[in-house]
Amino acid sequence: MLNNKLYIKTWGCQMNEYDSSKIIDIMKKELNCKITKSVQNANILILNTCSIREKAQEKLFHQLGRWKNLKKNNPEIIIGVGGCVASQEGEKILKRAYYIDIIFGPQTFHRLPKMIYKVRKFKKYLIDISFPKIEKFKSFPLTKTKNVSSFVTIMEGCNKYCTYCIVPYTRGKEISRPYKDIILEIKNLSLQGVKEIHLLGQNVNSYNYRNIIKQDYCNFTKLLKMISKIKNIKRIRFTTSHPQNFSDDLINIYKKIPQLVSFLHLPVQSGSDRILSLMKRRYNVNEYIQIINKLKNIRPNIQISSDFIIGFPSETKKDFYDTISLILDIDLDMSFSFIYSARPGTPASKMKDNISINEKKERLHLLQYYLKQQTKKFSLKMINTIQIVLVEGISTQNNQYFGKTENNRTVFFTNDYNCIGEFVNVKIIDSYLYSLYAKFISVCKN
Ligand code: SAH
Ligand code: SF4
Ligand code: F3S
Repeated sequence: MLNNKLYIKTWGCQMNEYDSSKIIDIMKKELNCKITKSVQNANILILNTCSIREKAQEKLFHQLGRWKNLKKNNPEIIIGVGGCVASQEGEKILKRAYYIDIIFGPQTFHRLPKMIYKVRKFKKYLIDISFPKIEKFKSFPLTKTKNVSSFVTIMEGCNKYCTYCIVPYTRGKEISRPYKDIILEIKNLSLQGVKEIHLLGQNVNSYNYRNIIKQDYCNFTKLLKMISKIKNIKRIRFTTSHPQNFSDDLINIYKKIPQLVSFLHLPVQSGSDRILSLMKRRYNVNEYIQIINKLKNIRPNIQISSDFIIGFPSETKKDFYDTISLILDIDLDMSFSFIYSARPGTPASKMKDNISINEKKERLHLLQYYLKQQTKKFSLKMINTIQIVLVEGISTQNNQYFGKTENNRTVFFTNDYNCIGEFVNVKIIDSYLYSLYAKFISVCKN
């Protein structure tokens, strides 16, 4: 039997990371694959791509160009391109990179072992970027893990069609995984020592499992309640949620589920109603603020982070300053910000974009200055406080233990004995923008 050695490179969001981890599980199980970190040692090379912003294609062909020579020296090597660029471009990728063997999409990566078998047998490339609904999730083997925190995808795809976004076209329509499979996956993880679950989906709060024949239904709040009952799962995070589906029910669940962290990533994108409407975000600034206020009523210390798109077509200086005001008004914590990038085939790409790139860069620069100040402020406030940290491992950089606080900051500290996998109390003594240094105090009692 062939000695399969897989090298996989992943770009993009946490869901792509999760997908790559599932590709590894499937390839190990079905092809007895070993995973290698050295591309020179591998005979199966997989690139899991992202197309959310510009230069995605350029980056892809640049990477493939490097792999081309490896294949020249060893024609037995299989090269596969997956993810969102593969889904968007399909066969077109072959025009520039004829030496590719497999093109697969985010919904068909579970078919990779069969595709590899066929490519080897028939010596011909294969393309499968279809959207075969729930089939993929059914073929995931139960994960083996040594981690204390784990991602779990609960839904995938998007029906919102924000005018700038490529995701509905690359990931397809919303699909919610059966809740029983999700619970099974989380129970399996918890039995292996996982204590924190990070639920993933393009819009987790539109999770809506329906089996009409069995009259079996489950929405996001119901799912959260079920997860909170799983033994040893002490922290629950989720990304990304959408303001439109952030119902009062979901807000109120923060009263009932202490495992839900007091840190929420809820992207607003812009502080201008006019731009939000052009983006087709389906909420206005006031509605967004209402959600945050209601949450803060229940959890006064909750910290909110967001995503922002700067320089959307026709964004005026006033629109931009409204965004800055919103950041300060709702006292946002660390957030992500991007210059608008026209994506092929999206409605926004046909809108007149009258802002120069220099102006966009200046706006982004200023916005990021304010975001940095906010992040700093929250980090500094933590100095001298006691925080609970879930210890993930020992850093190779400084040989110190590291883990995350509830508000998603990485903390480093030293300790005399191994406390990996434990929740520990630490006292924060120093702060660097995104990471903190602390003094170990004690391991938390249950
Ligand atoms: N489903 C999530 C976001 C997923 S994409 C939501 O609706 O909030 C992650 C982030 O990428 C978005 O929040 C947005 O800020 C950014 N993004 C998406 N498309 C973009 C584009 N065309 N140009 C620039 N940024 C974009
Ligand atoms: Fe993209 Fe909008 Fe869907 Fe988020 S909600 S994935 S930004 S279309
Ligand atoms: Fe990128 Fe696709 Fe994720 S476009 S951000 S990999 S959903």
